[in-house]
Amino acid sequence: MRFSEPKSRFPMRISKSTNSPLKLRLALVLIFLGLLSVLGVRAISSNSISSSKWLKLGSEKVSILVTGGAGFIGSHTCLELLVRGFDVLVIDSLINSNEESLRRVRRLAAGECGKTCGTLAFVKLDLLDAERLDSTLQSYGPFRSVIHFAALKSVGESVSRPLDYYANNLQALTNVLRACTKHKIENIVFSSSATVYGAVAKSPMREMATPVGQNILNPYGQTKFMAEVILKDFAQANPKARIACLRYFNPVGAHASGEIGEDPLGIPTNLVPYIARVASGRLPSLTIYGNDYEGSEDGTARRDYIHVVDLALGHIAALKWLDSIPEDTGAFEAVNIGTGNAISVLEMVRAYEKASGKEIKFEVGPRRVGDAGAVWADATKAKTLFSWEATHTLDDMAADSWRWVSKNPSGYPK
Ligand SMILES: NC(=O)c1ccc[n+]([C@@H]2O[C@H](COP(=O)([O-])OP(=O)(O)OC[C@H]3O[C@@H](n4cnc5c(N)ncnc54)[C@H](O)[C@@H]3O)[C@@H](O)[C@H]2O)c1
Repeated sequence: MRFSEPKSRFPMRISKSTNSPLKLRLALVLIFLGLLSVLGVRAISSNSISSSKWLKLGSEKVSILVTGGAGFIGSHTCLELLVRGFDVLVIDSLINSNEESLRRVRRLAAGECGKTCGTLAFVKLDLLDAERLDSTLQSYGPFRSVIHFAALKSVGESVSRPLDYYANNLQALTNVLRACTKHKIENIVFSSSATVYGAVAKSPMREMATPVGQNILNPYGQTKFMAEVILKDFAQANPKARIACLRYFNPVGAHASGEIGEDPLGIPTNLVPYIARVASGRLPSLTIYGNDYEGSEDGTARRDYIHVVDLALGHIAALKWLDSIPEDTGAFEAVNIGTGNAISVLEMVRAYEKASGKEIKFEVGPRRVGDAGAVWADATKAKTLFSWEATHTLDDMAADSWRWVSKNPSGYPK
């Protein structure tokens, strides 16, 4: 394996030259840890791969291209890359994001790793502009890997503006793949989605066993399915390409600092940002669609919510796996990135009430057409292939989301 093994970022050293008795020092450490847990502080990234600097190939520094890196998931992933010492180039048109997220990512990284952090460069660029994409990669390369987050992602908007979604999400992907070929970027991580499983698939969703591409109810979901088809064909035609399609379930939460998080434009369509606005008084109440779903203790629909930092770490794990594949060997794998647990709408409401200390007003409406009662991942493939699994709890998701929202009630400064 070309990567050195992870070292702890917070090594505990007990010096023999000290006069303090060992027991007293251990007791002090335990008191300190206890205080941290009482204060609700936890390590910013908790995962076996979180504290590594496994990026260096010999003395060469590794650069990663991150498209859509200014967005919600991209910004959290950039931070995790920087603290591991990767140099990152973000390309983003800012069509659904704000450069402030990247300023904060730089600041958070500097606070964590100072001079050992990677560097973060940003180029504002629409990926539909293939010529500028090419010249940008020429100037900033070479790159070891690309993580391709950039896409339009609003399900509702995709129904009213399907051509914009097909053009943006698929043309951007093909432009990125052409650029990968030209600039010899062989490791590709793609942001896919559980929507590729379609509306009637039975949970838990399994990468090999659950059919994909059937009963996808909106153009957004279709673009993710079509993108996977394009990537598979690309892998076949390019035997050195190593590709991981990560099928995210429902990303929520925010970085534990509350400095970066999800900043949706307009009225949120996802549950947690909506609940957050009710908690902060910006929306009057939540409508829960249906409370008579079988298999749910409280009757409300259940989804596999995953903390965005776990998701970001899933990308680091995927990159590490891609890099462990021998040179000249191609790969294509679709991998679920979920927790494997289903949380109900009402459970999320209660967790948010606990985190925020606010009452979340809600009313119950009829079920929505096409909504499944429960959707969750079989998360074993990610564990086997990437040695990755989610570690954040429901309480972490609610507490971190609330910290972000209460520190930034209007999102990033516009
Ligand atoms: N958030 C979710 O619930 C979720 C679930 C499953 C999959 N995904 C996928 O994960 C990826 C990231 O999602 P997110 O929640 O961070 O979304 P986001 O909108 O916050 O981030 C996407 C970024 O891509 C940029 N972008 C879009 N089109 C572009 C283009 N043509 N050129 C350059 N930049 C462009 C946007 O400005 C934005 O910064 C997306 O591909 C999304 O479809 C998200």
